[in-house]
Amino acid sequence: MLILGIESSCDDTSIALVEKGNSVLSNIISSQIKDHTRYGGVVPEIAARKHLEHILPVLHSALDKADTNISKIDAVAVTHKPGLVGSLIVGLTAAKSIALHLKVPLIGINHLHAHTYAGCLAGLPFGKPHLSLIASGGHTSLLECHRHTYRLIGRTLDDAAGEAYDKIAKHLGLGYPGGPIIDKLAQSGNKSIIRFPRPMIDHDTFDFSFSGLKTAVMYYLHNNPETPPRDLAAAFQDAVIDVLLTKTLKAREHLAYDTISVVGGVAANSALRAAFKESADRTHFSLFIPPPVLCTDNAAMVAGLAYHLLMDNIVSPLNLGVTATADIPLK
Ligand code: KG4
Ligand code: ZN
Repeated sequence: MLILGIESSCDDTSIALVEKGNSVLSNIISSQIKDHTRYGGVVPEIAARKHLEHILPVLHSALDKADTNISKIDAVAVTHKPGLVGSLIVGLTAAKSIALHLKVPLIGINHLHAHTYAGCLAGLPFGKPHLSLIASGGHTSLLECHRHTYRLIGRTLDDAAGEAYDKIAKHLGLGYPGGPIIDKLAQSGNKSIIRFPRPMIDHDTFDFSFSGLKTAVMYYLHNNPETPPRDLAAAFQDAVIDVLLTKTLKAREHLAYDTISVVGGVAANSALRAAFKESADRTHFSLFIPPPVLCTDNAAMVAGLAYHLLMDNIVSPLNLGVTATADIPLK
């Protein structure tokens, strides 16, 4: 069962071919970073136009890499929400055209569910109930997952964790996207020089907030302009990781899970990965963090999840639309 997956929800055009949900034959990702860098963030209009330019070359590369022909695919899966509407439309239109032409099923995928499925590409058995922390540029959410049912138990009330990384990097003039830049810079910084607030860390809910932390970093820099950026980066990152780890561990204890996945772009962060691994070793839970290329946006997670939906006869109509927001049911 070979599924072609398409991901175009933000600024990465990605197409993958995945066999039986977990054998990734190809996963081509065309990044638009250079097109958005000078603006310090993703410009939706530019993103949509670039997807249009890249989607066919990426399709050909994905088929070449997998050494297959498009007529061999059994279904087409595509991210159709949430994301930038103009970007999603490009991927969805391509997917519909292929499905219609080849007379194969179309499977619309929720981007957050796909991120969570990346844990399964890293070895988490699909049938295993688990807690998933999704930390990306658009979302910071804690989900209870069992197969393809999801319950949202916490989310950010303002900025996402990755958004805070990106905004702080922009403020410091470091470039875009901020996550990998701050990750690298923080490795040579001293995180103990400044102690930034840990927003909502002691609240009874599993919700997050990162907007106040971002403001605290900016005020600190304003009042202490001589602070080395590497120390600022290390102290900021320490606060983010402390909040993400503490809240996830609290949720795990409260809901009695023995398995956790950490996914989304921020899960590519080296210090965050080390902190979760250390905690899993110390307190004995099973931890699944995908390799960095499967943490950030990619189509392998889309095609992988679609296999299980198809096995359960869950397919989409050809009049499927795109939506900017997600609709995971609240508690
Ligand atoms: O999952 P993703 O590729 O796209 C969304 O769905 O948002 O996540 C992108 C986010 C960006 O905010 C980026 O700065 C962040 O993930 N990111 C990182 C790292 N790599 C990417 N954040 C922290 N450390 C990293 N190494
Ligand atoms: Zn994403």
